[in-house]
Amino acid sequence: MSTKFYLTTPIYYVNARPHVGHAYTTIVCDAIARRHRMLGEETWFLTGTDEHGMKIERSAAAAGVSPRKFTDEVAVAYKATFEAMNVHYDDFIRTTDERHKRGVQEMFRRLRDKGWIYKGSYTGQYCVFDELYVDAAGPGAPCPECGRPTETISESNYYFKLSAFEEKLLRYYAEHPEFIRPETRRNEVMAFVRSGLRDLSISRTSIQWGIPVPDDPEHVIYVWLDALCNYITAIGFGSPDKKDQARFEKYWPAEVHMIGKEIVRFHCVYWPAFLMAAELPLPRSIVAHGWLLFEESKMSKSRGNIVRAESVANVLGADALRYFLMREVVFGQDGAFSFDALVQRYNADLANGLGNLASRTLSMIGRYFEGKMPYPSGRAAHTKGDDEIAALAGETIRNFGAQFDDFQFSRALETAWGLVAAVDKYIVENQPWAIAEKDDEESRARLGTVLYTSAEALRIVTALVSPVVPASAAKIWAQLGLGNITKFKLAELKWGQLELGGKLGKVEPVFPRADKTAIERMQKMEDETRSATAERKETPAAPEVKAEPAAPAAAPAPGGAKIGIEDFAKIEMRVGTVKVAERVKNADKLLRLEVDIGTEVRQVVAGIAEAYAPETLVGKKVAIVANLAPRKLRGLESNGMVLAASVEGGKPVLATFAEDVPDGAKLK
Ligand code: MSP
Repeated sequence: MSTKFYLTTPIYYVNARPHVGHAYTTIVCDAIARRHRMLGEETWFLTGTDEHGMKIERSAAAAGVSPRKFTDEVAVAYKATFEAMNVHYDDFIRTTDERHKRGVQEMFRRLRDKGWIYKGSYTGQYCVFDELYVDAAGPGAPCPECGRPTETISESNYYFKLSAFEEKLLRYYAEHPEFIRPETRRNEVMAFVRSGLRDLSISRTSIQWGIPVPDDPEHVIYVWLDALCNYITAIGFGSPDKKDQARFEKYWPAEVHMIGKEIVRFHCVYWPAFLMAAELPLPRSIVAHGWLLFEESKMSKSRGNIVRAESVANVLGADALRYFLMREVVFGQDGAFSFDALVQRYNADLANGLGNLASRTLSMIGRYFEGKMPYPSGRAAHTKGDDEIAALAGETIRNFGAQFDDFQFSRALETAWGLVAAVDKYIVENQPWAIAEKDDEESRARLGTVLYTSAEALRIVTALVSPVVPASAAKIWAQLGLGNITKFKLAELKWGQLELGGKLGKVEPVFPRADKTAIERMQKMEDETRSATAERKETPAAPEVKAEPAAPAAAPAPGGAKIGIEDFAKIEMRVGTVKVAERVKNADKLLRLEVDIGTEVRQVVAGIAEAYAPETLVGKKVAIVANLAPRKLRGLESNGMVLAASVEGGKPVLATFAEDVPDGAKLK
């Protein structure tokens, strides 16, 4: 009987477009899912998007579109990124799906019917970024979780009796050491629960963009209760359909919820408490990974330090990024992403390592045995070195499996590459090209043995690492003449399965070496994407500020949510005079400006080149947002943003002044 394996990623917020950080979680899960499929388990791999809540409502307002249109677009972008990364999920849930809405309402009803929900009122500081009430001093005080400014919100809410689960949770953690991984996260969670749990507000009246509370549609369900339920609604919870119910029975509980370290509390405290209250089984394990850092801080939209998976895939292929992320990052810890390290790893491990082993072994079989697999034959043609490779291959199968299944992906890949290095050494020591020069029967048998041994080791490495580098492994497999790798039963992998006389496929390089231009090409793609986004955003000036979740306080687009004066005060707008204006090379829409704002001259890159000739701007008074974090556009640092009005389909019109004003004057 085959076992089932249900694995999930977090569902991604659609306020930001996908970057390598998001791709990381999904790639790791995809590799795990692929391995379990190859092991013959009935695998279900779920991913999706988290589309409700104040953060999304505001991002949509900032972009001047309805939340529905906004979320539709970004959900498509996530799917496209996952496709570019060769991710094969079984289902993609969106929290705006009807099936999800129905399931979440069913969950709410269940919790209410079982007496775990009551109504109360609350005034306090709310962190829009974390979608959480927090202990903070007052309006604008920083959120203790993420440091972003909080807002005061007063609401009459539904509460979940989380405090009643303190003991139950602690007992559960103690009895199930595998429930939270790694150990450090488990300890943190236990310490947090031990310090005491307060009841949790699970509805909001301050937002409309959410799932209405059953029988009380003034309230929408708290976005984290809504989001966490995706893991059960996607497989059929709450559906009247018998088939859905059977799927839920079959797959729930999940074997693994894979998450980033910043959302441990939601998954390891709230989610199990909700499930306990609803009398549903708990997931087997919640596994937290670290962050991917770029330029020394967490890759994230609000920091503006993102790299898109597509830029890497277009230049080096999806497998290069997949391999890099799983090999370079020690799972569970933070890991750094850089183009240099990526190209270095690619060349060392993939081009010179696995790729080279495949091409030299297979091309020698092509040359010396007319592309037909030779077979080790006769005692005379057998050495201790051959046995050592066979023994190491057996060990590699065992160790790779144990390490990979224990989430030690980097070590597992190191193990596999240990076999690649050993076979390389074996080939150098045995010099098959020299044996091929001799014509006697014994040499011929020896040559067959050496090439068979190399090819068999290559086959074993390829099968093992195929979940990590699926497209390349499929190519090597086909070149070995073995057909479709996804049909191969990994559980049966052992030494000695290559067949005598098996015809090789067409031998072609799998990982062409990356030259010096690879980094430039990836960087150029990033710059182009950034400046395209900047051009889109520079035109309607204010939304650029508003789109940042870090500044939930910024001004709304017409019809958007209202903000307080303290939020508006966070945007520093100043009068300046344009001193220098010039076109930016290779960017039709951008101008580089030097703007004197009284205390200093700022370089600002603005998307107004189609509307203004640079020479007409020199001496003009403009308004700029002066406290925006600097960002690079086409390699130029932009330190601020020029305000311009935007008309749908028209050109930007600079905001200017009815009377003369001194540089540096503040706009309020
Ligand atoms: N919507 C919530 C999750 C709800 S799950 C019921 C959320 N979304 S998120 O888009 O902000 O983040 C989702 C996941 O993306 C994180 O848990 C993390 O796995 C991943 N990452 C986002 N940026 C990342 C890095 N820079 N590095 C590694 N992972 C990152 O939280």
